[in-house]
Amino acid sequence: MKVLANDGISPTGKEALLASGHQLLEVTVAQDQLANYINNNGVDVLLVRSATKVRKDLIDTCPGLKIIGRGGVGMDNIDVEYARSVGRTVINTPAASSQSVAELVMAHLYGGVRFLYDANRQMPLDGDTKFKDLKKAYEAGTELQGKTLGIIGFGRIGQALAKLALGVGMKVVQHDTFPTPTEITISFFDGQSLKMNVPKLSLDELLKTCDFVSLHVPGGDIIGAKEMAMMKDGAGIVNAARGGVVNEVALVEALNSGKIKFAALDVFVDEPTPAVQVLMNANVSLSPHIGAATLEAQDRIGTELADLINQHS
Ligand SMILES: NC(=O)c1ccc[n+]([C@@H]2O[C@H](COP(=O)([O-])OP(=O)(O)OC[C@H]3O[C@@H](n4cnc5c(N)ncnc54)[C@H](O)[C@@H]3O)[C@@H](O)[C@H]2O)c1
Repeated sequence: MKVLANDGISPTGKEALLASGHQLLEVTVAQDQLANYINNNGVDVLLVRSATKVRKDLIDTCPGLKIIGRGGVGMDNIDVEYARSVGRTVINTPAASSQSVAELVMAHLYGGVRFLYDANRQMPLDGDTKFKDLKKAYEAGTELQGKTLGIIGFGRIGQALAKLALGVGMKVVQHDTFPTPTEITISFFDGQSLKMNVPKLSLDELLKTCDFVSLHVPGGDIIGAKEMAMMKDGAGIVNAARGGVVNEVALVEALNSGKIKFAALDVFVDEPTPAVQVLMNANVSLSPHIGAATLEAQDRIGTELADLINQHS
């Protein structure tokens, strides 16, 4: 198979493809040149991440394209149903990045309760002249241990996050609109494992009882002004799911009023040009949609895609 990895592929994925005898084209072709490139070069498999769009017109113009592969979870950039309806195979690697996203959420939570997101902004500016003032500004940190984390969307990432949070001594509850497990197994490095209960609550119950809420749903308007009003005073919100599942306007208002103490955002409504009001808010811990961006996740994505291509070729 001739494979075009238009948004790049990890070295491990590349090795796996080449070892299976596939030919790999590692160029990034501009969106408007993509159909020509695919047809002129006889590309059988188009691999993308989130940048390249695979819409109906591209699918129609490239009859030789057999497989469309998405490295990662969300397939918003691919017309999946249409592609399948005209006989193309569409594959993705939904589980490969769960641990990476979950670890990023814990990083934001730990950074949040100790104001690291703000300390890292202020120390380079004033650390040498106002050290004592800054020390005072960040003196009322808290621990995660003993606090309650509410996970909305208890799928792959939600469950991976629950394991980490339970591991550091948090109480964890979940809400999901579909049936989800209430018992999860935490595996340790030495082969031991532990089964833990993660109670399922209604959304309202979860909002009222949690110190921190983290969302791991595929989309929707889940947390707006009404939901934030139900939350505990001084609670924290993390959104590493999709921009907009937490309403950004309501969030800025709740942060400014002190109702919500801090928020962590990895995803934004207006990516790649997020609202300045969100970026400039002193109580928001920020990252530029890097939930899945670890070397380990990229390696898993690459090898899983290579395996899937082999299965379908
Ligand atoms: N930040 C990043 O870089 C990054 C990386 C990977 C995935 N994601 C996002 O994380 C999301 C979750 O990924 P996943 O692998 O855990 O998906 P998943 O399908 O395993 O889990 C999603 C869960 O959300 C539940 N759900 C759907 N709608 C809901 C609603 N309205 N209320 C409550 N629960 C609802 C589903 O039943 C499911 O259990 C993805 O859809 C993607 O948007 C972000």
